[in-house]
Amino acid sequence: MEELAGKRILLGVCGSIAAYKAPLVVRLLRQAGAELRVAMTPSARHFVSPLVLGNLAGEPVADDMFDERVQHGGSWHIHWAQWADAMLVAPCSAHTLASLAHGACDSVVACLALALPPATPLVVAPAMDTTMWEHPATARNVEQLRRDGAIVIEPEEGELASGLWGTGRMPEPETLVRHLALVLAERSGHRRSPHLRVEDVTARPTRSLGDAVEHDRLTAEIELSTLKAGTATRLDGKTVLVTAGPTREALDAVRFISNRSSGKMGYALAEAARDRGARVVLVSGPVVLPVPDGVELVRVESAQQMSEAVARYRWDVAIAAAAVADYMPAEPYSGKLKRRQLGERLAIELVRTPDVLAQLGSAKRPGAVLVGFALESSEQLDSGIEKLRQRGCDIAVLNAFDAPDSGFEGDTNTIVVVTFEGGQPHRHSYPPSPKRVCAEYILDRVVALLSSSRDPETSSG
Ligand code: CTP
Repeated sequence: MEELAGKRILLGVCGSIAAYKAPLVVRLLRQAGAELRVAMTPSARHFVSPLVLGNLAGEPVADDMFDERVQHGGSWHIHWAQWADAMLVAPCSAHTLASLAHGACDSVVACLALALPPATPLVVAPAMDTTMWEHPATARNVEQLRRDGAIVIEPEEGELASGLWGTGRMPEPETLVRHLALVLAERSGHRRSPHLRVEDVTARPTRSLGDAVEHDRLTAEIELSTLKAGTATRLDGKTVLVTAGPTREALDAVRFISNRSSGKMGYALAEAARDRGARVVLVSGPVVLPVPDGVELVRVESAQQMSEAVARYRWDVAIAAAAVADYMPAEPYSGKLKRRQLGERLAIELVRTPDVLAQLGSAKRPGAVLVGFALESSEQLDSGIEKLRQRGCDIAVLNAFDAPDSGFEGDTNTIVVVTFEGGQPHRHSYPPSPKRVCAEYILDRVVALLSSSRDPETSSG
């Protein structure tokens, strides 16, 4: 969205459950190249933390007219209003909507909106329950705001925080940001659409309230931890090889032996490594996950193919998250086995598959880091440590197939990361977390080992 690059945006956040979406609005605006200052009403603090918004925006948040941090020589609200190319109030509560319509300066958000120069667009995204949105008082306020030149992005129909269904949901952050980009483009003369409507903007499909809360919380958490850690967590210049998903070991032309692995943990690791600046090669067995952007995906079926694929790459970090079948049929039948030829009992001879992890361990160069996974019962979790160390792992990730919030198919996992510093295993236990957050925990350990290595090698391809 080039319209936003270099633009200065004031974001006003009000007390509405939709304030949980504000961190994502901040993140999207910054990704689009905008500079940001955030103001919030006192009640917004009950829904989203000023610390999160301030970290994401890169500037202290104004939530009090008399806050020392934003003063800078007095009349700061005038300076902020003069500084801005546009102001977005999202979410805008019924109360702030009324304040804006009447020019009441009862919060920093309303005060900044009143101080905007006439040519600076004010874009307002109301969010409230349907009865409040449809109340004649709110309708009058919206009408008044529009007459005064503000652009009001209508709320959408959907599930509301009250549990009711109706109009009042704030559109998704992507929709708001696209809308703001259109307003700025129009003001700078690139477009001539006097009555921008939210329908002009391609909205993403509406997620359920629960999914949306989880998505935005996770995004803000990842973003915040990355910002806090600065460049110390990056993997720029490193090649990260990840194996993921199950393998399929052919019995005949149509049948195979496999397992329940979904590939979600490996894909989350690939995306997390990519976001830290690594070149990522993802060697994946058959899964139904979307191909991650910016990752080199090598699709394989069998353990043998996975072994051949990983042998083609030099890596600085290898993470064996795949659930590789341990055995394969000794002689797969080239056609389709027919029941009438097989009789009542069928014995199939199985032989060991190549041990991809051990192969990676043998190929490991000085300074490189190898991570292995062990899926054990919670009672025998630690039995995974030694078998991974013997295969050359620097880090063992243990997870229990019988623990709640864990395992192959779900979106969460509960991991213990074991590092072998000074020959001794060090256990790092983490709470049940989304797999993407687990991936960040694992990569934090990888980065710590890489930087403590005395002879780190850079990748050459
Ligand atoms: N692994 C591999 N190639 C194999 C088997 C396993 O790369 N042929 C890797 C997995 O990706 C994982 C680790 O080895 O990182 C799992 O180790 P392993 O002990 O083989 O796993 P399990 O099959 O769960 O072990 P066990 O039979 O002891 O339960």
